[in-house]
Amino acid sequence: MRPQTHPNLVHTEGPGACHNKPMTQPVLIAFESHGGQTARIAHRLGTELVAQGIAVDVVDLRKQACTPSGVRGVIVGASVRYGRHSAALRRWVTAHRAALNALPGGFFSVSLVAASQRAQDRGIAKGLIDTFLRETGWTPALTLSVAGALHYRQYNIVLRLLMRRIARRSGGDTDTSRDHEYTDWAAVDGFAHAMVAKIGPPAP
Ligand SMILES: Cc1cc2nc3c(=O)[nH]c(=O)nc-3n(C[C@H](O)[C@H](O)[C@H](O)COP(=O)(O)O)c2cc1C
Repeated sequence: MRPQTHPNLVHTEGPGACHNKPMTQPVLIAFESHGGQTARIAHRLGTELVAQGIAVDVVDLRKQACTPSGVRGVIVGASVRYGRHSAALRRWVTAHRAALNALPGGFFSVSLVAASQRAQDRGIAKGLIDTFLRETGWTPALTLSVAGALHYRQYNIVLRLLMRRIARRSGGDTDTSRDHEYTDWAAVDGFAHAMVAKIGPPAP
């Protein structure tokens, strides 16, 4: 179990329903992460919301089944791999779209192309969000395209070479001896504050 940094910040792990802790109605932050960067962003959003007095439940959808019920709002985050968000996440959002569309919602998408210096490339990242939302039928109030990271040290040799080639094409770092983070944390915090404005003041 991850250490609880604040009584309002719950990191749900293991089997069972999400947001099942005794606390005021939380905001669900559900994410799918493969290399850890989307998880890092999800937890940062959680910390920011908690700092605003809003209870949150941060759930790793790859580890735990979760239903977006009994919550005040929902943030969903996922990374782009091989030009798409995952089919599993697409199925989860599609399955719950009625509930999601009835709540204040935000979707953040983590990719390398979002880090590009070229506006045209960053447009691709935004296009992937549009495609995901069109395919799932979810209409969140807020979206954020945010740059992720290159975790060269955790990739196997084949993936390392592949990612270095992709990075070279998009002007990213090609030094595979270390990891590179591109996330704009100020933009992440801004997204959290915009979500707070959509969700409304903390429950009394
Ligand atoms: C196998 C793999 C495929 C990827 N494909 C893309 C891609 O098509 N477009 C892109 O912009 N970024 C791509 N990325 C970069 C990821 O979106 C980026 O590393 C992100 O930070 C990963 O988030 P995560 O650590 O939460 O999984 C890929 C990364 C990996 C490891």
